[in-house]
Amino acid sequence: MSSKQEQVIAEGMTLGVIGAGVMGQTLIRGLVASGLIGRERMWAGDKNASTCELASAALQIPVEVDFQSRVSTADLILICVKPPDVPAALAALRNAGLRRETLLISIVAGVATDRLESVLGSENPVVRAMPNTACIVNEGMTVICRGRYAEKQDLERARHIFEAVGKCLAVDEVHFNAITALSGSGPAYQFLIMEALADAGVRVGLPRQLALTLVAQTALGAARMVLTTGRHPASLRDDVTTPAGCTIGGLLMLEDGRIRSVLARAVEEAAKIAGHLGMAPTKVSESAAAQRSGH
Ligand SMILES: NC(=O)c1ccc[n+]([C@@H]2O[C@H](COP(=O)([O-])OP(=O)(O)OC[C@H]3O[C@@H](n4cnc5c(N)ncnc54)[C@H](OP(=O)(O)O)[C@@H]3O)[C@@H](O)[C@H]2O)c1
Repeated sequence: MSSKQEQVIAEGMTLGVIGAGVMGQTLIRGLVASGLIGRERMWAGDKNASTCELASAALQIPVEVDFQSRVSTADLILICVKPPDVPAALAALRNAGLRRETLLISIVAGVATDRLESVLGSENPVVRAMPNTACIVNEGMTVICRGRYAEKQDLERARHIFEAVGKCLAVDEVHFNAITALSGSGPAYQFLIMEALADAGVRVGLPRQLALTLVAQTALGAARMVLTTGRHPASLRDDVTTPAGCTIGGLLMLEDGRIRSVLARAVEEAAKIAGHLGMAPTKVSESAAAQRSGH
């Protein structure tokens, strides 16, 4: 752990998490495992009572529907709800006495910092983040950017949180939809590719569990080679393609199947969808009106 991270702990930061679903729980587990913040300094809120019960038992922290009285204790709050639930979640924080200096970190796909700020209606520092589920095994990939009221040190604070569960890069907000499509959704693409390769292993006679272990460790090794050597993947691939060998034969079949354009189209489609996620009404009044009119 770096001295900067230790400094954050020394400050005795209290972390609240709104939305104890897949990502909320993933980040809490990752942070607990990293030792950055102790369980006694974490709480979570969720609108679903059964989620609260299950998450509270699994995470060993308070997870409550009635979390309002805890809001003013938080130095930092992670917003981990789906895009349409943002207005209600922010209204609950505002009405529960959110302190002006509490840093809000939103991991919500498609909702920009200016929209978060206008829905919140206060000058709280806001950082937008796009992590992925690999945070649960300390191999997350997260990008962050800051809103208009957030200072450099707020961004640093968010960086410490996400570096405790993987890599974290500060980027321009203009790239967020593309990044949501590439690394936010990325683990799902990798799972599908690994599943398909494991099936391929079964097709050529391997027991399924052995095939899956071979595929997963191979993916891990290849990723580490790219990250540690800094070499271009094409150059690493050239190293293992013997003339007239089996690898070049396999690669030819992948190219015949247009694997590059299929992957590019998948990311393009996901980026388009990410761009529309935040389009739902985000004003409390708008959303309440829509609910009343049944839309
Ligand atoms: N999943 C990923 O891989 C991933 C990666 C990066 C970012 N994200 C972003 O992370 C966010 C959460 O995704 P997720 O997959 O964790 O969703 P999720 O599993 O549905 O979790 C969201 C939780 O928040 C609860 N909730 C909804 N409104 C609330 C409110 N007003 N106050 C308190 N709790 C509330 C939901 O309860 P109900 O179920 O009762 O509605 C649910 O338990 C999304 O915005 C997504 O874009 C997800």
